[in-house]
Amino acid sequence: MKYAHIVGWGSFRPDKILTNNDLARMVDTSDEWIYSRTGIRERRIASEKETTATLAFEAAARALKRADLHPSQVELIIVATSTPEYIFPSTACRVQDYLGATKAGAFDLSAACSGFVYGLSMASQAIQTESVRNAIVIGAETMSRVLDWDDRGTCILFGDGAGAVVLKGSSVPGGVLASTLRSDGSGGDLLSLPAVYHNPVPVLGPEYLHNGHKKNTVEMNGRQVFRFATQVIATSIEETIAKAGLKIDEIDLIVPHQANTRIIETAAKRLKIPQERFFMNVDAVGNTSAASIPIALCDAVHDGRLRPDDNVVFVGFGGGLTWAASVIKWNVTPPEISLPRREWKRARYIVARGRSKLKKWRRRIIDRFSVSPTPEARMRDADKK
Ligand code: COA
Repeated sequence: MKYAHIVGWGSFRPDKILTNNDLARMVDTSDEWIYSRTGIRERRIASEKETTATLAFEAAARALKRADLHPSQVELIIVATSTPEYIFPSTACRVQDYLGATKAGAFDLSAACSGFVYGLSMASQAIQTESVRNAIVIGAETMSRVLDWDDRGTCILFGDGAGAVVLKGSSVPGGVLASTLRSDGSGGDLLSLPAVYHNPVPVLGPEYLHNGHKKNTVEMNGRQVFRFATQVIATSIEETIAKAGLKIDEIDLIVPHQANTRIIETAAKRLKIPQERFFMNVDAVGNTSAASIPIALCDAVHDGRLRPDDNVVFVGFGGGLTWAASVIKWNVTPPEISLPRREWKRARYIVARGRSKLKKWRRRIIDRFSVSPTPEARMRDADKK
């Protein structure tokens, strides 16, 4: 039995910033209303060239760099997302290709804003049972492509981005100590995003953002989601820390899904702990769904909020309804990486793209010049065998 440690982390945010004041020019709202109800000041919006997969790749490449792990050593890639470009191929397969992770299994996971914690739990179990030696878990979203930009009740909440962690097996006790995954499908209608093929729109592209589509966009009952979130944050944290044999006072930091500061205030009161024990960055990124916890984790590390041997809780909640929590012992110090090596590491992804193109060409050439055998020839071959 191995322990699954977080040994790398990375995040990526698109450059374009959409402030509350920008939104006030698009719908009937104001900075004051949005900030006082949600704690959000601004969010990032993906450019036309960026996709969920490219954001996921950037976050994963940063996490791998910190973990000092070569992409060819990666054994499993899980992408938690509600905004894949395709149902298949999965976003995880695209990331596998971009990274050049030639020995990795890859799949997407759909659990809305709880998806990252679900993925972390799946990956840590695969490591603990020695099915794989390491894994990348990514949360990545382009929520801006699935919002109704005329609906002030939802479009003010969400943003785009990606975050990733690298998990690695070790015989040193620690890492992911316990997880709890829960769901309640009876509340599915409270927060939903219809699949494209239910209500076809011609092309999901950048124009989708601007052309006033009202179908295939996020729908939400804000009040009920608020009530649900405040309840499950407290219960799932209590349940998971009990599984890990810890008490709430032994938890150094809680990194919650970044949906709303008022939800966290209420959850902190229920747990009878100071709100400062929760790390928040929703003001700068908005709700990035599955990406929010790993992005917040990166900011918490950057701000010096995590020290070796800290007990950290991740807690997610969202559409499904789903909710989930994990307790992590933060006890692996990443190696320092010198700059020239970093530069070299970036070059490997250019090589990976080249290799991917070559493979595509090879397939085309084989397809062009191969002659499919006649049924008689196939029978003769089978007889010979
Ligand atoms: N700007 C200005 N007014 C707005 C508005 C906006 N962006 N959105 C809604 N309003 C209005 C409503 O139309 C309503 O007006 P009315 O009283 O004239 O009918 C009024 O504000 C109150 O609406 P309500 O929906 O009750 O507001 P609220 O206090 O519940 O706040 C949310 C709305 C969405 C901020 C809040 O319900 C919430 O945060 N819910 C959780 C959402 C969430 O986190 N979802 C993701 C979970 S993963």
